[in-house]
Amino acid sequence: MKVRVLGAGAGGGFPQWNCNCHNCSRLRRGEVNARSRTQSSIAISSDNENWVLFNASPDIRTQLEAFPAVHPKRGIRDSGIKAIVLIDSQIDHTTGLLMLRESTRPLDIYCSEMVRQDLSTGFPVFKMLEHYCGVNHHSTPLDGSSFTIPEIHDLKFYTHSLKSKAPPYSPHRHNPHAGDNIGVVIEQISSGKKLYYAPGLGEIEPHVFAAMQKTNCLLVDGTFWQEDEMGCAGICDKLARDMGHLPQSGSDGMIEVLKNVPKARKILIHINNTNPILDEDSPERKALNEAGIEIAYDGMEIDL
Ligand code: MLT
Ligand code: MN
Ligand code: ZN
Repeated sequence: MKVRVLGAGAGGGFPQWNCNCHNCSRLRRGEVNARSRTQSSIAISSDNENWVLFNASPDIRTQLEAFPAVHPKRGIRDSGIKAIVLIDSQIDHTTGLLMLRESTRPLDIYCSEMVRQDLSTGFPVFKMLEHYCGVNHHSTPLDGSSFTIPEIHDLKFYTHSLKSKAPPYSPHRHNPHAGDNIGVVIEQISSGKKLYYAPGLGEIEPHVFAAMQKTNCLLVDGTFWQEDEMGCAGICDKLARDMGHLPQSGSDGMIEVLKNVPKARKILIHINNTNPILDEDSPERKALNEAGIEIAYDGMEIDL
């Protein structure tokens, strides 16, 4: 299977429009060895022609233009994107749906019942799209069982619920429900190769750890280096875990977790603009390199 990282940044992207943090300001001035990143999305295909989009980023227009494999080829209106899987209902993962409104057929969207509810109430994108192309909603399992998608050959998707956070506009923001966030294992049926994708991962529950062990490649939450990163940058006092993200550093952080997943290729994605790992010359980046952990960038392609 082929994986294309469309956007490797977290909400806001890098640099963020109003952010003057150490990373964003140095990137604008050309004073840091770092790449800009658009907001969180990937695409996956087994045949290089029919693609599943995971999350629809506010930056989707530029992301798709930069990726010729999905450009229209077969008619006056056409796209290589055949279906969309949403891992949560956050702005950085769903706003791009509005940009797909010109679709000539209803969008086939696979997401949990909780995400469907958020996108029909607090952020009613599904209702808005009824006035354009419409939505065919397909419910994703929350217990790790699998489903397939018509037109997407040779791939199977296993979805499970995760501990992260519902967005501020969710009717149950402070009352977590199974399916507010999901993790996905994508398997190529013919080769048995598996990828694990979880850009918002607040806690490594036993079923998450078990799924990680069975896969060949991990694309997991790389939002924050440390728990109080936003506070240290003088932005706000929210902790990483309050926002549903497990930081990389610390005795129970992502680096330690990944040490216990010896077989898989390990890649961080959904990197917040405050994260020091964006600076390719930073000691934090060096620590990741030494731990054998890669950092996703826009345009990265992974062949599995
Ligand atoms: C998150 O995952 O916490 C989001 O990126 C926050 C946001 O989009 O504002
Ligand atoms: Mn996000
Ligand atoms: Zn910043």
